[in-house]
Amino acid sequence: MQDFLDKDIFKLISDVADRMQLDCYVIGGYVRDFFLYRPSKDIDIVAVGKGIALAEAVASKLGPRTKLSIFKNFGTAQIRYKDFDIEFVGARKESYTRDSRKPVVEDGTLEDDQKRRDFTINAMAFCLNKDRFGELLDPFNGLQDLEELTIRTPLDPDITFSDDPLRMMRAVRFASQLGFDIFPETFDAISRNKERIKIISKERIADELNKIILSPKPSIGFVLLEKTGLLEIIFPELVALKGAETKDGIGHKDNFYHTLAVLDNISLKTDYLWLRWSALLHDIAKPVTKRWDNKLGWTFHNHNYVGEKMVPKIFNRMKMPLNEKMKYTQKMVSMHMRPMQLVEEEVTDSAVRRLLFDAGDDIDDLMTLCEADITSKNSEKVRRFLQNFKIVRRKLAEIEEKDRVRNFQPPIDGNEIMEIFGLGQGREVGELKSYIKEAILEGEIPNERQAAYDYLIQKAEEIGLEPIDKNS
Ligand code: CTP
Repeated sequence: MQDFLDKDIFKLISDVADRMQLDCYVIGGYVRDFFLYRPSKDIDIVAVGKGIALAEAVASKLGPRTKLSIFKNFGTAQIRYKDFDIEFVGARKESYTRDSRKPVVEDGTLEDDQKRRDFTINAMAFCLNKDRFGELLDPFNGLQDLEELTIRTPLDPDITFSDDPLRMMRAVRFASQLGFDIFPETFDAISRNKERIKIISKERIADELNKIILSPKPSIGFVLLEKTGLLEIIFPELVALKGAETKDGIGHKDNFYHTLAVLDNISLKTDYLWLRWSALLHDIAKPVTKRWDNKLGWTFHNHNYVGEKMVPKIFNRMKMPLNEKMKYTQKMVSMHMRPMQLVEEEVTDSAVRRLLFDAGDDIDDLMTLCEADITSKNSEKVRRFLQNFKIVRRKLAEIEEKDRVRNFQPPIDGNEIMEIFGLGQGREVGELKSYIKEAILEGEIPNERQAAYDYLIQKAEEIGLEPIDKNS
């Protein structure tokens, strides 16, 4: 314990607090993460009494170049020191939330402060004053809950969640990040209070959702969101994936659990948020495209393209970025079946070239997504698919080496075509350009200038065009 509090900064705060005769503690996430062996850069300090005054005194001790920000209305102050963000606050009687826009009115004791925090594991404090330095203050048995892997509120959960309904998402998020269970009474209170999530800003909800998606096994979080009823409110498209219908003895898989399996699979391979989002959304249009066909059974025609169109609507509603990250997600959703189609059919050079051309630099991500999409229980089938994937990957590398079509730049562009034939902009130029592109992708000519030029002249002749200067 002493080791952990050995950081110079804690000693310094300790000295200053003693001099000011303020009881002072490090509290919250930093203490929790200490017990979880997760180094943290965010330090929350609570002083019984004047939090801001303590921060000012600490800042002046650290020197004139220390960055101190004071938020008087909220009774908080922040110091940037080395890599650390240190937030100071006076112990308070009412709920502590970082985003709360409620001005602070009433001072309280340490325990008042602890009981208005979200979870027992986030309510533990170490004393920093010299005579009790390193003493753990844990009135709600947070340490025991940490050992028992339990998320539980310090107070009656109805009170804790009504103080800040975002905490319902936080409960699920911590469970997913840490692999913890939500204590039954806490869980029931989330189900009971779920509608209250509607008063929380979309941005804060998206923040928590992203943390769930980035957790080691995101399905834990999504199953909890679904079971508590929160998912229906914040992300109904995912709930629509649930269920497996059977007709004439033919069923289809439950696309909700399939999606979560794909998300977990991909999470073993990448921390990239948007590839994980792509996994989450890859089948999002299955419910709206589902049809029964007497010959084919269940079909989900074009679910990839319909899904691509749903992405901006979902991102927009959730106040997620509508930038290149969204476009990337759309591209992944739209193309997620391409490598698999290739595996199922014959792996021809031209099919591989087309895939490379369309996927560009995202080809590796697309392959990873497609592999993660194999969730069949039939191990023979899985083995065969993965084997075929190896062939596709090898072919991709070979063809890229040979033809460099990944970021295809036509060896002769539209301007040149106009110059060669003395043409203005128009349909013919576009056609000639696409002849060259097609011939390269089909493997009729190599991706080289001279071959493209000869081919261009030949194609132009067919439509009655001749170069204006035959020597060019
Ligand atoms: N807290 C709270 N209710 C909230 C948000 C925060 O009670 N809605 C309290 C908790 O004691 C929490 C502390 O404020 O530990 C700091 O909050 P925050 O920085 O948001 O979370 P951490 O617990 O530090 O976890 P993380 O950094 O993973 O978000």
